Amino acid sequence: MSRARHPGSCTVVVGCQWGDEGKGKVVDVLAQDVDVIARYQGGANAGHTVHVGDQEFILHQIPSGVLHPEKRCLLGNGVVLDVAQFFGEFDKLTERGVEPEGRIGVSERAHVVFPFHKALDKAAEQVASSKIGTTGRGIGPAYEDKTARRGVRIGDLLLEDRRRDVVEAALERARERLEHLGADAELTGSLADSMAFLERLPAIATDVGDEIDVALRDGKRVLLEGAQGTALDVDHGTYPFVTSSNTTAGGAAVGVGIGPTAIDQVVGVVKAYTTRVGNGPLPTAFEPEMDERVRTLGAEFGATTGRPRRCGWFDSVVVRYAGRVNGLTGIAVTKLDVLDTLEEIRIATGYRLRGSVHRRFPAGVPDLDLVEPVYETLPGWGVPTTEARSLADLPANARAYLDRVEELVETPIVMVSVGTRRSQVIRAA
Ligand code: IMP
Repeated sequence: MSRARHPGSCTVVVGCQWGDEGKGKVVDVLAQDVDVIARYQGGANAGHTVHVGDQEFILHQIPSGVLHPEKRCLLGNGVVLDVAQFFGEFDKLTERGVEPEGRIGVSERAHVVFPFHKALDKAAEQVASSKIGTTGRGIGPAYEDKTARRGVRIGDLLLEDRRRDVVEAALERARERLEHLGADAELTGSLADSMAFLERLPAIATDVGDEIDVALRDGKRVLLEGAQGTALDVDHGTYPFVTSSNTTAGGAAVGVGIGPTAIDQVVGVVKAYTTRVGNGPLPTAFEPEMDERVRTLGAEFGATTGRPRRCGWFDSVVVRYAGRVNGLTGIAVTKLDVLDTLEEIRIATGYRLRGSVHRRFPAGVPDLDLVEPVYETLPGWGVPTTEARSLADLPANARAYLDRVEELVETPIVMVSVGTRRSQVIRAA
């Protein structure tokens, strides 16, 4: 007998470029219509900036959906949890009147990021001949421990009689690896900081897959929130200049513990241009003057590290690829307003590689380093789009730009964001 399809709805929100596409804003808008929001991968490397009224919230570890009162917020097994960061954000939210108490759950299967993972992350970057440019949040080393089957999970920390031994064994292994890398980090004090939060874990530990399954069977609406972006996926991104998890929509099912058939919609978040922070190829990168101009217009500085983001033209090759890898059912275009003052706007429609033009995204960095984007140039619109609340409110040239994006990416546009505020959004479908 087959399993009955649930009466609820399940939507994945996924980044389609190199992260920083504005997923926080899109999730914030979509979260109004759902009951449960869950993150499925990544850790405190993410930085979600959300503006509510005149307040700005930057969240790294807690899903941005928490800013909607009454919603249940979950962190799935695919997430790596920095316990000190998590409770730091939790307490700050409480101070600012958001009240996360009783609304947040973390999978017992999620792995823990300890201070020694951060020390290992930084030490590995220091000695690497080809640096990834990580966020230094310990993400890679925590996922390494998970895959090597020596990680510590939230469930381990719940067992009072075992946890000291488990953590001390992990600390000892980290010390050996740090010594091997020639790094000298003081670990015991900062580890004590993480351990100070242990008493608060039982109140948040939960079976995330089971909670989502029950919610969907009860007809509730669930949103699965991705961090980073498709081109940073450990399998499908610009390896090795990637993060250490599956950021793509397939990772959503694995990362919360439901089957792929439970997912109904996949919304890809796409910035109206391209940015990248950290090292690795960015085929449509601007020349320095334009880079500076768009970085200033779009405030393109990392929410986690403050690093300037490299900026470039919209690359339909990577977003079309994201369409396939994620099985996108719609795209949300963000930061359209950042392009308001540009005289003309380019879109990469293909890559020239070894004499011929391709629309396929190459698998390897050596090819990506060689590609020359083929551009199409569209006229700018020269007026603000920030007050537009429907597609009809947009200037004709802005609509033409969006139409061309939609056509090249072969996915319908369901939302357009025209500013940082919650209200500055166009629901196109
Ligand atoms: P890690 O995730 O800290 O290991 O960093 C690996 C790569 O992913 C680096 O290029 C980072 O800059 C990038 N990265 C990680 N998290 C984010 C994010 O939230 N936005 C954009 N880039 C990110």
